[in-house]
Amino acid sequence: MKSNEARLSREQAKELLLRLDSNLGGARGKSARDAAVKLLNRSVPSYSWVGIYIVEGKDLVLDVWSGPAATEHVRIPIGKGVCGFAAKSGKTEIVSDVGKDPRYLQCFLSTKSEIVVPISSQGSVVGEIDIDGDQLDAFSSLDREFLEAVARKLSAIWS
Ligand code: SME
Repeated sequence: MKSNEARLSREQAKELLLRLDSNLGGARGKSARDAAVKLLNRSVPSYSWVGIYIVEGKDLVLDVWSGPAATEHVRIPIGKGVCGFAAKSGKTEIVSDVGKDPRYLQCFLSTKSEIVVPISSQGSVVGEIDIDGDQLDAFSSLDREFLEAVARKLSAIWS
């Protein structure tokens, strides 16, 4: 598959936001987050591994994930790695080549790029969506826009 064929399209992003609502079917909290990571992982070919971390004190703790393998990074101090950086800044991080980013904590040998989107509630970061891609530059501003909308939906049904 060519990299641009695997990336999210605007039509798909629109359709997935609607499908997310129907898939969640009134679920909240962890079961809603679990349904969301599964939907994202199976629907978008460029999303190789999809996880949600939640803020617990000074750490991010892995809550739910969907992908081919488990990660060893189940607890990441806020400030460490791309995940910890985004949790601290509250801003989305797109890393187009993880090999060139000194912050990157490796989970999978196959990962080439990553996007981390904070989930905020009442002005504080409560968690984040972390997605690994097996292609360089797998994430665009469209993924950012789409995943920030997903993050807002999850924030509204956080617990
Ligand atoms: N790569 C992340 C760690 C989490 S794994 O991708 C699942 C980071 O640099 O923070």
